[in-house]
Amino acid sequence: MAELVYLNGAFVPRSEAAISIDDRGFVFADAIYEVVKCYRGRPYRLDDHLARLARGAEVVRLDLDGGVGELASAVERLLRENHLLEVDASLFLQVSRGPGPRNHPFPTSARPTTLVIASPVPPLDPVTYSQGVRAITVPDRRWGMCDVKTVGLLLNVLAKQAALDAGVAEAIFVRDGVVVEGASANFFAVRDDRLITHPEGPQILPGITRQAALENAAAECIPVELRGLKVEELATIDEAFLTGTGTEVLPIVEIDGQPVGSGTRGPVTEVLQRRHFLLTRGAGIEAAGTGSGR
Ligand code: PDD
Repeated sequence: MAELVYLNGAFVPRSEAAISIDDRGFVFADAIYEVVKCYRGRPYRLDDHLARLARGAEVVRLDLDGGVGELASAVERLLRENHLLEVDASLFLQVSRGPGPRNHPFPTSARPTTLVIASPVPPLDPVTYSQGVRAITVPDRRWGMCDVKTVGLLLNVLAKQAALDAGVAEAIFVRDGVVVEGASANFFAVRDDRLITHPEGPQILPGITRQAALENAAAECIPVELRGLKVEELATIDEAFLTGTGTEVLPIVEIDGQPVGSGTRGPVTEVLQRRHFLLTRGAGIEAAGTGSGR
């Protein structure tokens, strides 16, 4: 059975879905998006993702034609019709300002292009999630609206590729000597059993998984400092981890060739991972790699 996607109000086979070469998403990165993970047919915090999309649309003055309700119904139908109710899946939602002549001002007659893709994702590797990954720091030269989830991700793409070229999993942006976030995930440090993460604002994406981790920390009575960690402080932290929709809660055990704390996953990270896996799968960390849930 061909995978269906939702494009501009219609459900079409993925191979037949086509977007104009004049689409402003393609020409100007004039588009916003969301990635949502679904655990056995259940989208994780879909309302939060749709609210962030709606907020982004308002900031960039993009008319969400049918509203987010249209997207939520599309998600439901795609999960069903693409047989994604018993496996883990990833949703990609994108809304662009639509096709128009290549002029900077908004086109007068364009209608937004709305796309929803739902595809299966492989289970996580439990070894990676217990052993952790390595990361590098990179200068943050991104724009001043990193809180808006636009598809203009070239500097994130270059940072991620630099990480892979260096043989590590993630690049961590540093701006004015302060650690902000990863190329595709939020960054947390732990020192003296306290969680430290950059506050919300224009320098980071207000991650949905970050928010969940903060709620989990509160439930575990783990104190939180919302502040930017100075890059020199990396040498003094006990633990670090990333949070993100696809990344979930991933320990970082080495940054720029230096071990983080003991160089292994730390206890605070493990507690927050466990809660995350329980919330998303109703099962422990060991189930992350099996794709099982409930
Ligand atoms: N990335 N920071 C950046 C720069 C991101 O791109 C992402 C997510 C996050 C984490 O946000 P959330 O927890 O809401 O997924 C933080 C998505 C998944 C992506 O572009 O693939």
